[in-house]
Amino acid sequence: MTSSPAFPDVHSYANPGHVRVRHVALDLDVDFRTKTLSGSATLHLDRPDPSAPRLLLDTRGLSIGGAESGNGSAWAPAPHELGAADPILGAPLSVELRPGDDRVRVRYTTSPAASGLQWLSPGQTAGKHHPFLFSQSQAIHARSWVPVQDTPAVRLTYEAVVRTPPELVALMGAAGNSTGERGGTYRFRMPQRIPAYLMAIAAGDIAFAPLGGRSGVYAEPSVLPAAAREFADTEKMMASAERLYGPYRWDRYDILVLPPSFPFGGMENPRLTFATPTVLAGDKSLVALIAHELAHSWSGNLVTNATWSDFWLNEGFTTYIERRLVEEVYGREAAAMEAVLGRQDLEEELSRLDDRDEILHIDLAGRDPDEGATRLPYEKGALLLRSLEELYGREDFDRFLRRYFDHFAFQSITTADFLAYLGEHLIGRDGERAASIPIEEWTERPGLPSVAPRPASEALHRVARAAEAWTAGRPEEAEGAFPGWTTQERLQFLRRLPSPLPVDRLAALDAAFGLSASRNAEIAFQFLLMALKGGYPGSDARLEEFLVSIGRRKFIKPLYEELVKTEAGRVRARAIYAKARPGYHPIAVDTVDRIVGPGA
Ligand code: BES
Ligand code: ZN
Repeated sequence: MTSSPAFPDVHSYANPGHVRVRHVALDLDVDFRTKTLSGSATLHLDRPDPSAPRLLLDTRGLSIGGAESGNGSAWAPAPHELGAADPILGAPLSVELRPGDDRVRVRYTTSPAASGLQWLSPGQTAGKHHPFLFSQSQAIHARSWVPVQDTPAVRLTYEAVVRTPPELVALMGAAGNSTGERGGTYRFRMPQRIPAYLMAIAAGDIAFAPLGGRSGVYAEPSVLPAAAREFADTEKMMASAERLYGPYRWDRYDILVLPPSFPFGGMENPRLTFATPTVLAGDKSLVALIAHELAHSWSGNLVTNATWSDFWLNEGFTTYIERRLVEEVYGREAAAMEAVLGRQDLEEELSRLDDRDEILHIDLAGRDPDEGATRLPYEKGALLLRSLEELYGREDFDRFLRRYFDHFAFQSITTADFLAYLGEHLIGRDGERAASIPIEEWTERPGLPSVAPRPASEALHRVARAAEAWTAGRPEEAEGAFPGWTTQERLQFLRRLPSPLPVDRLAALDAAFGLSASRNAEIAFQFLLMALKGGYPGSDARLEEFLVSIGRRKFIKPLYEELVKTEAGRVRARAIYAKARPGYHPIAVDTVDRIVGPGA
């Protein structure tokens, strides 16, 4: 069986059926003064249709200095045209090809407002002395820093020469990352074929600490020791993943801890996961995020969604695997708690989403694929896999998944490709059991099938009882147990309290458990949201500090949404956002502009 070409991808202008980019050689200067990358991208082409007269690339906000084409011996200027910019897709760049041309070189400069880059001033870093740059290419932002066929259906290898000021370090999601040497010129090579959304770059005052033979962590020097302690179990996670799903095929697995404006929790850039510092809780309690990004080394990076409508193949599989890894390294109860909290997230999401966004195989035509990035593909997708695991048994299901990754390794596949493979290798052999999986309902309809698994956790069940007692005016049990609870138990406790809570009860809660002051970002976030809902003023200062210092979209979006529900809150939201906005990533700015309104 082969995977289908999956074109057209409604989020790309590329014409890979005619001319296909297979390798990119970047030569880029990192200029913090102008906030630009500039240089060239040399694209090596396959031409499945040799008569096709042009290469079509995706761009967004790039200024094009020129284009040449050639066949390895001679370059000649190539007629090219940058089309009109679409607000979601950016602008197509078409480059004319002569017969026999198999290379195109594009000279370009990025925009200071590139949607896929964030340029931080020294004041926005932990060290305060050096600027910082990082990319975030998923879903369709690679085109804002590389002219490329920015569709996950096209895979390419790349190499890069990157120049920075000599005192800074450049890193990429590739081989060649420095573990100490500086000097300002860095060379990288990505020998495995990846989709453009996995291209990644960062530069700053960055140091390295090894975690094990194949893994390590990069961070600003002052953050590095805490990061190395937090992620000490990374090699164990890798060993578990390999035991379950086959060899790790990317050589090294390193983690780069970014400044707090990173808009996501983590990003699975191959060989170099990018991570938010908000997971550095000090007690490893939030490292499921590393299990998640590591799991993408199989689900996502090895077997990739062919279009953004198939995003659930990346995230649903990864969420399922994440919990299997948590179970391996931290035990059944830890994994069960994550699954219970995940189902709660899903139910909350289901109460807010439109029907069309509750469908795993989502229709994103005319929309920004970032809009499809809700919890739904993660948690509904994971429940589908879990229901298959329960039906066929772990042993058979694990064997199936492992073969699936081998079969589709380094390919980009659609939902239909997965379903065909599932039918052939798991479901098809047993008609009776197959009848009990409403597979079409799972992938094509809104809501959750009634047969969806309901994860349960003994520990969280006990916590829910303590929450009931606390609510009923018997706080002793919770007060006694809280100090011994894990982060997940504390979150469950907060989530199981009535909403909104009266102000005096919020004050009592804060006083008993020090919630406003919590340095655990998940717990602080949960409480700040409850405080807003109940109108408790005791955490106002902490709310402002949180929103100004952290740019992780998962946290800031719900807080701003809650704030703007009242007129007074709207005024506060505007005042806080005026301070916070200059420090937010373009993706976060886009999100919060929609909630609060642009500028203040
Ligand atoms: N690949 C995603 C992040 C992403 C998705 C970026 C869509 C842009 C568009 C990453 O693997 C992820 O899922 N991160 C989660 C954390 C995870 C533990 C659920 C996040 O950032 O919240
Ligand atoms: Zn993910």
